[in-house]
Amino acid sequence: MKPLIEAAVVDMFEAGLPARFGVADLDCASGPNALALISTAINAVHHHLLGPAPAAASRCDELTVLLNDLPTNDFTSAMTGLPLLRQKHSVVGSGVDYWPGVFVSVVPGTFYGRLFPERTMHLVCSSFSLHWLSKVC
Ligand SMILES: C[S@@+](CC[C@H](N)C(=O)[O-])C[C@H]1O[C@@H](n2cnc3c(N)ncnc32)[C@H](O)[C@@H]1O
Repeated sequence: MKPLIEAAVVDMFEAGLPARFGVADLDCASGPNALALISTAINAVHHHLLGPAPAAASRCDELTVLLNDLPTNDFTSAMTGLPLLRQKHSVVGSGVDYWPGVFVSVVPGTFYGRLFPERTMHLVCSSFSLHWLSKVC
């Protein structure tokens, strides 16, 4: 998924990144993989924001990160990697004076229904869910 996510972020930079960038992982599950996709997405956005112009000229102040799975998912264990993720994407001590805020939330619910408010998500990822569906439509 990594090169696909990176390519999607590059496309978005070319189209003009919004000031508030929304990224979601449908079926985040729990355990070490729960934050893997969004970590890749955050890295890709940071890489382009801090890269050479014109990417560096893009202004993106906030990253909204939403993790979705069914309400029965173990979101508590999914969040155990969050402190590490925050540390990894922290500006402290990096010598970088511009770094967007990253805000992570969980969205319990089925992706067969509507999960997010209108016009809030720009990159939506999903990995290994088609063989694990809660129902077949
Ligand atoms: C095999 S896991 C995928 C884990 C993770 N995305 C990965 O790549 O390692 C499949 C996940 O899909 C979730 N899932 C299945 N049907 C779903 C639905 N209708 N809405 C949201 N999540 C669903 C399951 O709860 C499970 O956590």
